[in-house]
Amino acid sequence: MDSFEKIASLAKRRGFVYPGSEIYGGLAGTWDYGPLGVELKRNLKNEFWRSMVQLHENIVGLDAAIVMHPKVWEASGHLESFSDPLVECKKCHSRFRTDEIGISNFQFPISKEIKCAKCGASDWTEPKRFNLMVETYLGVVEGEKTKTYLRGEITQGVHVNFKNVMDSTRVKLPFGVAQIGKAFRNEITPGGFTFRSREFEQMELQYYVRPDLKQSMETFEYWKKERMDWYVSLGMKKENLRFKEHAKDELAHYALAAFDIEYSTEGEWKEMEGVHHRGDWDLKRHQEFSKEDMTYFDEETKERYLPYIIETSGGVDRAALFFLIDAYTEEKIPNSKFQIPNNSEIQNSNNENGTPDARIVLKLHPRLAPYKVAVFPLLANKPELVKVAKKINDDLKKDFMVAWDDRGNIGKRYRAQDEAGTPFCITVDFDSLENNDVTIRNRDTMQQERVKIADLKAYLAEKLE
Ligand code: GAP
Repeated sequence: MDSFEKIASLAKRRGFVYPGSEIYGGLAGTWDYGPLGVELKRNLKNEFWRSMVQLHENIVGLDAAIVMHPKVWEASGHLESFSDPLVECKKCHSRFRTDEIGISNFQFPISKEIKCAKCGASDWTEPKRFNLMVETYLGVVEGEKTKTYLRGEITQGVHVNFKNVMDSTRVKLPFGVAQIGKAFRNEITPGGFTFRSREFEQMELQYYVRPDLKQSMETFEYWKKERMDWYVSLGMKKENLRFKEHAKDELAHYALAAFDIEYSTEGEWKEMEGVHHRGDWDLKRHQEFSKEDMTYFDEETKERYLPYIIETSGGVDRAALFFLIDAYTEEKIPNSKFQIPNNSEIQNSNNENGTPDARIVLKLHPRLAPYKVAVFPLLANKPELVKVAKKINDDLKKDFMVAWDDRGNIGKRYRAQDEAGTPFCITVDFDSLENNDVTIRNRDTMQQERVKIADLKAYLAEKLE
């Protein structure tokens, strides 16, 4: 199994991600996040928000509507840029206009001699007049409904509110607007688990600066570094990350410069986030199409101008997927003779005492882990242990996401929490009744230590910092 398959299997089994509308046979390119997945995504989004809005005085937040006036998409260039007949290389998912690969508009099948300029394969989708935008209709009276679109990027909701944000806050250049939300694209070939979906979430910063090319490139470099450091600070392995510059002919219609932050899995580099220099494209186009003045008045220089925009645009689902792949570890438990096989059957391996001797563990950063701590009574049928454990559970859940488990033996409970990425497990045993302390087991080291019940909150708060 490759890493995508392993994660998809674990995700379904443990409740991170399920196929969308599964009982009806699924709906391609849609995914539902289960109890663990929703916590992971929420933690990721909270970390993003904290790093942007909470830690920068000059960055504010916004939550714009998903459905916008159809003119927005004319102005943004989205309608125009995706309306050509396209084919997609099934191997590397690069898209080409049919004229780029030298075929007439809807010619199919495509000759084997025609190879993908990116990867050399010759396996093409049928040409389609293709617009990535997902259409929708608003209104109740047939014939009077307005055709519009589900947003193809969350970006435009920020730019159309540029004046509102300026007028209602005291921001001055340079300043940023952060947003997190759903976007929709009619991808020709969704796939790679959640990697390429038709409905997904983005976390973005639109940062407005003076229209000075040199200065704006310095800001561009600053945000490139900040975003890369953010992934590393949350535990992603440095060696699995790199920047990839877009060549001039690869740049999106709005971009003056662009770098992707890529993640490496199975020897392939894949886009996780884009950092783009959008110039004054968006404000200029909205000014032209809406006839509203979108300029900024610079009180220092007494000039009016359209600011340049530096954008960081990450996929929440892609980040969640790559954090899961990065954290996924199959590990032999020391002193065991068990050999870890090449698939997830390892979860069924027990030694002769009925305890696991190999494990799957998600070594997620504690701030991203869905549950921060699990609480167990050593034995479920001893009310005196259950009572103390429940009390600890109830105290801790006011501050942390806590998992409760009293099924099976302790080894199985540890194994279940390892797979969920829970960094700490607390066991209440008979000594706890005498000494008011518990065993805390560390997910990564599997070391155990005794901690006083009264010190548990402080202990966890320190470890989770
Ligand atoms: N506002 C700029 C913008 O949307 P993009 O490179 O098209 O730029 C940014 O998208 C990020 O959104 C990507 O790096 C990726 O993480 C995520 N993304 C884009 N399309 C996606 C899809 N079909 N499924 C999941 N995530 C996607």
